[in-house]
Order: sequence, then structure tokens, then C-alpha cells
Amino acid sequence: MFQAVAKTLSVASTSSVSRGILSIRHYCKKTPTKLRVSEAISGAELGANVKVQGWVRSVRPQKANLFLNVNDGSSLQSLQIVATSELNDPLLTFGSAVEVTGILKKSPHRNQPVELEAEHIHVIGECNPVDFPFKIKDRHGLEYIRQFPHLRCRTNVFSSLLRIRSEATSGIHSYFKENGFVQIHTPVITSNDCEGAGELFQVEPSSPEYEEDQNFFSVPAFLTVSGQLHLEVMSGAFSKVYTFGPTFRAENSQSRRHLAEFYMVEAEVSFTQSIEDLTKVMEDMFRSATEHVLAHCAEDVDLFHKHVTPGHKDTVDAMLKRRFPTITYSEAIDILNRSSEKFTFPTDWGCDLQTEHEKYLVKHCGNIPVFVTDYPYDLKPFYARDNQDHPEHTAAAVDLLVPGVGELCGGSLREERLDLLRARLEEVGLEDTYSWYLDLRRFGSVPHGGFGLGFERYLQCILGVDNIKDVIPFPRFSHSCLL
Ligand code: 4AD
Ligand code: MG
Repeated sequence: MFQAVAKTLSVASTSSVSRGILSIRHYCKKTPTKLRVSEAISGAELGANVKVQGWVRSVRPQKANLFLNVNDGSSLQSLQIVATSELNDPLLTFGSAVEVTGILKKSPHRNQPVELEAEHIHVIGECNPVDFPFKIKDRHGLEYIRQFPHLRCRTNVFSSLLRIRSEATSGIHSYFKENGFVQIHTPVITSNDCEGAGELFQVEPSSPEYEEDQNFFSVPAFLTVSGQLHLEVMSGAFSKVYTFGPTFRAENSQSRRHLAEFYMVEAEVSFTQSIEDLTKVMEDMFRSATEHVLAHCAEDVDLFHKHVTPGHKDTVDAMLKRRFPTITYSEAIDILNRSSEKFTFPTDWGCDLQTEHEKYLVKHCGNIPVFVTDYPYDLKPFYARDNQDHPEHTAAAVDLLVPGVGELCGGSLREERLDLLRARLEEVGLEDTYSWYLDLRRFGSVPHGGFGLGFERYLQCILGVDNIKDVIPFPRFSHSCLL
């Protein structure tokens, strides 16, 4: 395809302009249109002279022709390049970076609508196939490619994962936008320890100017474990707010569902009447984000559901088809105690639910997500709303448990009553630290609540991926080597 005549007006120099001399070049040239592989495959530019840049995913030299597959990350599918064998080059290897120009033609092959008949193939970056850790014919497992965090995005499976992650992010933002939430950028560095669990990374300047006993911020500072308290501030003005950002926990855990740095989606809603106001947001967001992912990267999801976690599609379909049931913590304890399963951890009323319990409860409820509400008051942080019930003393807290993962979301109604909150903070000696938080209850306090969803666990849940390190671009966990 010929592009419109391009005119370049080039000004030789400031001095020449001042002398009124302009150098004007006119040229008419057949310039190939640069396309992403996904655009080329769409077939919209059939017959056009195009340029495609990407990485070689397969090389098949034949007697008269050379066939290449080139991928640039824009889709799971690669573009087939057909060239005469004169264009073959020993540097055209699996993993090399190339630029190909030629004409887009309808492909005679049934499973690919378009191919690029190459006129020029230029190897931009060589790739030694012996040293490259991924081999052309092998389908490498997630565990193997995890050893190469700097290269694994070159594999089909991990590039699919990252496209899904990107679409899931969009789906979550769209849900909140469509439902009237205001996005708040909550701080990464903070002095509050929202969860009170003591699993914090402390932030200090590395500069020797700061003495060890000096605090850069006047108070000890940490990487955030949750944006909740900052969101509570904002829910007092905007009614519905959310945040979606990195969160840090210094848990010394090597488990398949814990990271030291993960992404959390958190929402806070004012004027709540009951815990159902929160479970509705959690369930609607889960469905909406998942439907968005399925609609926008079906091929990528299929790769997982067919080759990585066969059978998981049925689990996802069931999750989307049925409403999520709700049981109370006390009912959950009854279910666990009635089961014939031998659990490692105790199941007495008052004990926290462990992953083994959560997974059992999900199975018991039909292998779909299940809300567990009204946890023992003593298990929950100071901000959880007191249900003031007897004899079992509970807080209006809720967890969403999901297949394969266990806890996906944790949230609660917040204690909005000044006297009760003050008493609880006094009990734990935190009334001075949280005097600003008590202010929120002094000035226009309303019933409110919120929750946090672990974004990586969400991806594990919809894709069936067993290890959390396989759903984040660069996993950080204890004793990991950082890139
Ligand atoms: O249950 P958590 O600790 O809840 C909070 O932080 C609340 N302040 C949130 C709120 O109400 N705004 O964390 C929320 C979710 C968990 O359910 C889990 O999915 C995920 O965050 N999560 C982790 N994900 C990966 N690695 C870790 N170390 C995680 N810790 C929590
Ligand atoms: Mg939790």
C-alpha cells in the first residue's frame, strides 16, 4: 500500500532560517505500514505492504520456502512469515529479534487467516539457541520458567499470563468506575500498621548522614500493609472509594499463596447497613472482572485452561453461574467438626481458620466461592465492628474463600461508634497513635466498611495456577534473589 506523499520540511539551522533560507525536501516513497502482530492477524490490512517487528517463535526451512512465526506480545498467536529460501539466514533462530517487511496475504492454511509474504527479513538481535534456556520444541512448565524471571515473558504461557493480568487490572478499574467509586492513591510509605500483625518492612534512608536512632520522617516508617485506614479517611468524603496498588508483608513464608510484595484491591463504602453491602461489592467485582478477562483475552485464558490447568474452565464456569453462599464462622466451625477429615490445625470455636479449613469449606459448599462472616471478636483487628452478641462474641468481619486458594478477600464493617472504638484502642494502648482515626468518628462518623482482595490470589483462582509466584511479573518473597 502506498502511503500519502510525505513532505519533510527540514530547517537547516537557526542561522539559515535567519537568512531566510529553507531547505525543503519532497519525496515520494513506498513506505511499509508498521503493524503489531495482532493487527496483522486481524486481516484488516490484507494486500498492504507492512513492517512487523518481534521475536522468532519458530523457524521451518523447506526446500523452496522458509516459514517463520513471529510474536511481538500483542497476542498469543504469532504471525506466519513466508519467504523464499534465499532470505534464510543462520542468525534466524528461535528467540532472535527480527524486522520483516512484505505483503500481507490471505493464508491457504485453515488455522491461520493471514500470512506475511516477506520481501526483507532483518535480524535485529541474535539469540544463541544453545544458551537460550527455552527450546523451540519444548513446552516448558511454570516451575522451570520461574528460574528465569528476566526471560520468562518470552514464553507463550507467561506472556499470556501477563496479558491476562493487564486485562484483569482494566476489568477491576472499569467495575469501580462504572459503580461510582473514586480511586485514591494511598501512600506506600506510612507510619500505621493497619493489620497490627507486626509483619512490616521498615523504611530508612541508606545515607550515612542519618544516624541509626534518627527517623527520616520523625516517626518510624513502614511499607504499607494495607491502604484501608487511608481509604477510611476518604470514604468520609466520597462515600465510595478504592485503591489498587502494591502492598508489603514481611511474612517469612514460602507458601504458594504468600508474597512479600503483592497487589491489593481495596474498597471502602460509607452508609452501609449490613455486611451484605460489602459481600455484594466483592461478588459483583469478582464477576465483572472475570467476565471482562474472558471477553478480552479468551485465547490466553484457554491456553491455561487447556494446557496448564486442564479442567479448570468448569470451575470458573460454576463460579460465574452460581451465587456465592454465605455461612457464619460458627457454622463453618460446625461443618469442620462434623467432617471426617483429619485436620492438622485445631477447629475449636475461637481458632483462626487455616488454609486446610478454608479449602475444605469451599469444597463442602460445592467448589464455588463462599463468604464466611462474623468471626470471633478477639481474632480481628481493633477496627472491626463489635457485633455485641452473647455468648459468642463476634465482629462483623467477612472473608471470601475461593477454590484452590482459600482466602481471597478479607474485610469488615468498621467500628464507627466513638466510645466503643476508643475503649478498644485504650485496651491495646493505641489511643494516642490513632487519635486522628478517632477524629473520623468525632466528625460526621457513619456506618461503613470495606475489604481487600489479593490480586495475585484472584489470578490464581481464575486460572487455577497453584503457585502465586507464577502470576506476578517479578515475585518478591523471603530469601529470593532480586532482579
Ligand atoms: O486479609 P488482609 O490482611 O486484609 C487487610 O489487609 C484489610 N486491611 C483489607 C481491607 O479491609 N481493606 O488482606 C487482604 C487480602 C487477603 O485476603 C489475601 O488475598 C491478600 O490480601 N494477601 C496476600 N496476598 C499475597 N501475599 C500475602 N502475603 C498476602 N497477605 C494478604
Ligand atoms: Mg485476612
